[in-house]
Amino acid sequence: MSLIDEIKLRKTFGIVSHPDAGKTTLTEKLLLFGGAIQVAGAVKSNKIKKAATSDFMDIERQRGISVATSVMAFNYRDKKINILDTPGHKDFAEDTYRTLTAVDSAIVVIDVAKGVEEQTENLVGVCKRRNTPMIVFINKLDREGKDGFDLLDEVEAKLDMSVCPLSWPVGMGQRFRGVYSLYDNKLILFSAHGKQSEEDTLVIEDLNDGILDEKVGQSLADTLREEVKLIKDVYPEFDQEMYEEGLLNPVFFGSAINNFGVKELLDCFVDIAPNPLPRETEQRMVAPTEEKFTGFVFKIHANMDPKHRDRIAFLRITSGTFERNTNYLHVRQEKKMKFSNPTAFMAAKKSVIDHAYPGDIIGLYDSGNFKIGDALTEGEVLHFKGIPSFSPEQFRFVNNANPMKSKQLQKGIDQLMDEGVAQLFVKEDSARKIIGTVGALQFDVIQYRLEHEYGASCSYEPINIHKALWLSWEDEVAFKEFAKRRRNNMAKDKDGNAVFLADSAWSLNTVMENHPEISFHDSSEF
Ligand code: G4P
Repeated sequence: MSLIDEIKLRKTFGIVSHPDAGKTTLTEKLLLFGGAIQVAGAVKSNKIKKAATSDFMDIERQRGISVATSVMAFNYRDKKINILDTPGHKDFAEDTYRTLTAVDSAIVVIDVAKGVEEQTENLVGVCKRRNTPMIVFINKLDREGKDGFDLLDEVEAKLDMSVCPLSWPVGMGQRFRGVYSLYDNKLILFSAHGKQSEEDTLVIEDLNDGILDEKVGQSLADTLREEVKLIKDVYPEFDQEMYEEGLLNPVFFGSAINNFGVKELLDCFVDIAPNPLPRETEQRMVAPTEEKFTGFVFKIHANMDPKHRDRIAFLRITSGTFERNTNYLHVRQEKKMKFSNPTAFMAAKKSVIDHAYPGDIIGLYDSGNFKIGDALTEGEVLHFKGIPSFSPEQFRFVNNANPMKSKQLQKGIDQLMDEGVAQLFVKEDSARKIIGTVGALQFDVIQYRLEHEYGASCSYEPINIHKALWLSWEDEVAFKEFAKRRRNNMAKDKDGNAVFLADSAWSLNTVMENHPEISFHDSSEF
């Protein structure tokens, strides 16, 4: 098969949601459709239960499961579909942000009762930065929840989306009778038996057809007629180009646990979701169809088991064909590397592969060579864009607790930062090191791993920082003056970029107002 044919087969996407909206359940149902798993329950949830947050080792153990489920590939209607798992837990948000750099589209799961929640907003925000096409799935229609139109308003307002409903619920909760697909004019009747059969699906081209009343009762039938009319009057029609540009978001309704409305979602996804897309580098755009292989590392997973201290670097293939045992250029390290055991992921199974194509994710065993964002090529020097750091939310000074082990501490911190566990900033005034994380949990993880993997020990000290902002400026003299005046707030990130550490939202506002000559950015890529 030609490279172009391989590319046309592939769809690589991620499911994003606030914890508990039903991401794991939906993933599992999708895999069941693809035949990648046979029974429900085969996909272990890598969800981190709130109750376990007191014991981070437990969480890391649970997270270990996510190596197997980080990428799940399945075949459906002759397509090869890769689902990238995205931890919903807030403390691992950075991981999720980076994983989203490796997808070509996303499905956003929303709980019908809870509506748009905080983590959904954050993750959709990240997708929007790159105009990732997104489909919305409103889940748990078997429960009482918000009115459909109110939910659409909420999605538009909070997620800044322009929505186009492609299915619509008939009733809800106790009175949930099914969904009407506006995508292909079908009524799909709900029965909570876990599978949808052919008899439950009726083509109804004209909603005035009496068969509708017969199937769902007159009252619900009339409501559906009115609501569908309103949808057609108010919302735009589906438009493939607008969707691909991230400007229009189809919405589906269903119940993942009951496997209801999932097939409609999947069928539409297979029709409309983009094939592997080009990727931007600092040098040029890389098209998937280019013969020469390129790819980038978006995630590094370290094994917490001391007996198997290997790491897996997850590489997204962006162009050409990746081949096993072939020399490739590790661009940052300027050295050739070849891989004898590259791994592909098929549902919960891993297997060594000989070839991989654009859109595929492969796992490379790594002994510390890779850093998030690294590129592999056939020789060209490329730096992929779109893998920024975002401001951490928690900050602490890190001190060496064992002066005999300062080398080990340095190495440990460097490697953990390369893996993306946290971010390191060095203050300009004191040269003291600050670690920034999204969640408090990572501080324990770092301390534990430094001790167990590097034989180093660290202690933390509180520091009052609200946010880290990356700076840019045109006038070098003005910047120098600013940096001198605000020396207490200035730091460098791991790549030596200038960062402003703001004490509070209020002081940040004041500084921004007083210094229009400096631009403040909430991510390292602007
Ligand atoms: P997550 O990955 O987004 O965190 O969510 P997950 O799929 O684990 O689902 C969260 C909870 O919501 C689970 O219940 C799951 O069974 C339930 N759920 C998912 N889809 C539906 C649905 O369509 N309708 C209803 N009523 N519930 C749904 P749990 O009690 O937390 O876990 P479990 O004991 O069922 O595993």
